[in-house]
Parts: sequence; structure tokens; C-alpha cells
Amino acid sequence: MTTDVRPEVDQEAVGEAMEKVMGDFAAAIGVTTVLLGISSGAWKAMAAAGPVTPSELADRMGTVEPYTREWLAAQAAAGYVEYDANTGTFTLPGAVAAVLTDDATTALFSAFGEGMAVMGADLARFRDRFATGQGFGWHERSPEHWEAMAGISDASVIPFLPAWLAAMDGGDALLAAGGKVADVGCGYGGMATALARLYPGATVYGFDYHDASIARSRSTATDAGVGDRVHAEVATAKDYPGTAYDLITFVDSLHDLGDPVGALVHAREALSPEGSVLLIEPAAGDSLEDNLTPVGRLWYSVSTTVCTPNGVAQEGHPLGTVAGEVKLRETAAAAGFARVTRLDVEAPMNLLLQLRP
Ligand SMILES: C[S@@+](CC[C@H](N)C(=O)[O-])C[C@H]1O[C@@H](n2cnc3c(N)ncnc32)[C@H](O)[C@@H]1O
Repeated sequence: MTTDVRPEVDQEAVGEAMEKVMGDFAAAIGVTTVLLGISSGAWKAMAAAGPVTPSELADRMGTVEPYTREWLAAQAAAGYVEYDANTGTFTLPGAVAAVLTDDATTALFSAFGEGMAVMGADLARFRDRFATGQGFGWHERSPEHWEAMAGISDASVIPFLPAWLAAMDGGDALLAAGGKVADVGCGYGGMATALARLYPGATVYGFDYHDASIARSRSTATDAGVGDRVHAEVATAKDYPGTAYDLITFVDSLHDLGDPVGALVHAREALSPEGSVLLIEPAAGDSLEDNLTPVGRLWYSVSTTVCTPNGVAQEGHPLGTVAGEVKLRETAAAAGFARVTRLDVEAPMNLLLQLRP
């Protein structure tokens, strides 16, 4: 005979917990319909139309009413559009339209969406490793994931680069005079190509341990007409060649590495006397409590499933996606950087630190 010894659980709280989990599933599926609205032009059609019925929206888009009917209902349930039961019309509020019809913002959402779409396939391979503590390197992920990462950086980093580099103490001037730059963990090479375009006299090196990323970096640079000044090579963050770099950048890559201190020691030793490291990392608070927010949830989830497994597959000491300024400063200090400055710039998703010995 068994006896149930579980303490009494508040059934109302159980109901709330169930509702929260179901709400999260609803949001996860719901965001796929937000992305359909972007790719099909439905959000823009709604913004132009004012209050619309499903069949009016279908006419405007050139699609069929059953699609717009269900889609609008999903958006009304999500709270993105307002439904008027008297007229049977749906209205897109101005503030929501400002977010969902802005091309720069929706490019970022679409890249996130691409990454999420392939998460399921990669998660099936990661599940056992999470349980046993094995790593899951960047090179093992699906190509769609690498593509999505490039899209996120193209939307959230590259447009801001001129202002960020101009805010650095000294670094911008060195490059304007024709300096030497390395981008570490360069991925598909968007940063290396952007740097070469911004500084026509500079020579740019892109390093990544992942051969397919390096192949893509080369074609990215060639397609942009700067292939002669962008040298992409397979190398790890601790063994890439060269010295006297005026600038070494890490775009969302330091927190993925198995040995971030070792990577920064190597960077410090490879700098020119006036050179700097530019760390571009996700914007985050310093304590876990500070990051218990929707954005914190996004980063910690990416960290659990993507960034941290890469570091576990290497030396095993990754910072995790949500490092925050204090931990990044400690890491820089441990690598021998005496001067660390946070750049005071507009950066929607990132925090930026300039490191000098
Ligand atoms: C999150 S992705 C960022 C890619 C790129 N910087 C961007 O913003 O699109 C991290 C990159 O670091 C690379 N990487 C991971 N571990 C590395 C290591 N130990 N040495 C060099 N690159 C590494 C991965 O292959 C991947 O391209």
C-alpha cells in the first residue's frame, strides 16, 4: 500500500502554472504567425488599411480569406491587433505598426525566426548532451543556424558600426590611416567585410575555427568587392597568426569560447602598442536578478542551447550569453587589460567595451 506524502499544493497556483506554460507554447507558435505577417506583407497592408475585415485584408494582399481570417484572430488573441465585434473589423495600433512594419526591426525578427526554426532540429541532437554534459560545437549546428546568426549581426551590429568605431578612443584614427584589423570568431564574415568597406586603407583578417564559416567569409568579402583586403583563415581564438593589430574585434563570440581569458591574452599579445580590443556582447545586467526579464529569458535560453554548449565542447569555461559588464571587465582584467572603457553609444542589443593593455 502506498501513501501520498506530498505536501498539499495550492490548486489555484497549479492552475496558474499550467496557464503560464500553455501561454509560452502559445507565444512560441504565435511568433511563427508574426513572421508570416512580415514575409507576406500583412502587417504593412494592415497599417495602410486602417480597420479591416478578413476579406478586405485578403483582397489587399491578394490571398484568400480563410488565411487572413485565422491569422487576424491569432493576432487579436495575442493582443497585437484590436478586434471590434460590432463591425467585425481588426485594427493595427500605431505603436505595434511602428515595430512590425519597420524594415530594420523586422530584418532582425526574421533572422531570429530563422534561428528558431532550426532550433527544433538541433535540439533533438542536443537533448542527450544536455543530460550527460557533453558539448555541442558551433560546427555541429545546422547551416540555417549559421545563416541566422549572420542575419542577426547584419541587422543589429553592422548598421551601427560607424558610430561605434568613432566613439572608440584612438582606434578609429588608426584605421583611417590604413591599419590592421582582426575579427575573432568571424562567422560568415559580415563584420570583416564591413570593416574593409569602412576603412579603404585597412587590411582585415577574419579568424574562425569553423571551416564552412571561413569559406563563406571569403565569398562575402569577394562579393562586396573587398576580397583583396579581407583575409579569412581557419584558426582558433588562441592560435591565430599575426601581430601588431590596431584593432581586434569580437562580435558576440567571446562568451561562446571555452577559454575567454586565454582568447583575450592572445589578443593582448597580438595588438600593436596603440591597439585596442573591441568587445561587442549582448546587453545584460550584472546579476541574475537584473536579468529576470523577457530579454534575459531570451538570452539565457540561447545560452543554454547554443552558446554555452559550444564552450563546453572546448576548454569548458564559457561566460554564457548573459555575461554582463562586471564579468566582462573581470575577464579582461584576468587577461591583463588595465584600461577598460564602456562606449557610450546607441546599441539596441549590445554593450561595447574597449580594452587596452
Ligand atoms: C555566435 S557566433 C558569432 C559569429 C559572428 N561574429 C557574427 O556576429 O555573426 C560565434 C562564432 O565563434 C566561432 N567560434 C567558436 N569557438 C571558437 C574558437 N575557439 N575559436 C575561434 N572561433 C570560434 C564560431 O564558429 C562562430 O562563428
